[in-house]
Amino acid sequence: MNYRHSYHAGNHADVFKHAVVLRMAQLMQRKTAPFCYLDSHAGTALYDLQGEASGKTGEYLEGIARLWGRDDLPPLWAEYVASVAAQNADDTLRYYPGSPQLIAQGLREQDRMILSELHPADAATLREHFAADDRVAVHQRDGYELAKAFLPVAEKRALWLLDPPFERADDLERCLAAMQVAIQRMRQTMIALWYPIKDERLLRDFYRQVAAAGLPKVLRVELTVRPTDTTMGLNGSGLMLVNPPWPLWEELERDLPWLARELGHAGAGAWRLDWLAGGP
Ligand SMILES: C[S@@+](CC[C@H](N)C(=O)[O-])C[C@H]1O[C@@H](n2cnc3c(N)ncnc32)[C@H](O)[C@@H]1O
Repeated sequence: MNYRHSYHAGNHADVFKHAVVLRMAQLMQRKTAPFCYLDSHAGTALYDLQGEASGKTGEYLEGIARLWGRDDLPPLWAEYVASVAAQNADDTLRYYPGSPQLIAQGLREQDRMILSELHPADAATLREHFAADDRVAVHQRDGYELAKAFLPVAEKRALWLLDPPFERADDLERCLAAMQVAIQRMRQTMIALWYPIKDERLLRDFYRQVAAAGLPKVLRVELTVRPTDTTMGLNGSGLMLVNPPWPLWEELERDLPWLARELGHAGAGAWRLDWLAGGP
């Protein structure tokens, strides 16, 4: 386990992923019925963008920093930037919330969160951060086991962020198997699987497998900031959204072109949104 999210916090992939997952949680909260948020690869709660790790990569400068302090943000990105701003006392961008904190900020009395993180230091920090909040359970265990261990949830409504570090060659396969388990155990589970886009050609088998996996509805949403026929690094990222809530896809169609334009390098930003299974 070499991956540390502190080097990447607030980069273009975090902006995209966090804004979408935040919106999914908010759409679930339109109903007063409780819901359970599961975060299988939770990272930690807060990242210091002025810390050593962020300083080394500067990745957030091409992510959240490009949206910070702007007054022309489309609604999806404005809502997300407001949530990041809630972690910063003045107008200075310093602290960046990881996915558990981002969702915890809007958690209602009746909602619940189950977090798992394998790295001992991050798991300990998470546990300490949420120690006083009995709606939040932190587990230091393998996130791929989360669906088997906790679904179906008593609330019957769940949102699962599946966000592994992709250090292993079989991570996409493991994600797909875990999503199938989740849907078998609770068909209405909403899932957001994040995946990296380096060389897009490497993803073609994965797309075919997702389409054939027997998942009820799958929306594929992607944001790329550089051309995807090069293996330069993280050219973009995607989200497989299982059972996404309406009207998320309409909001994304409305606001994604703006984000692709603003975060794209030298005009190369692009986006895609289509259904791999089921439909609206
Ligand atoms: C991409 S980061 C998570 C970022 C976080 N979800 C966010 O959006 O703020 C992936 C995390 O998964 C952790 N991890 C790696 N393998 C794991 C496993 N098998 N189970 C649970 N956590 C794991 C890593 O330590 C790392 O913190």
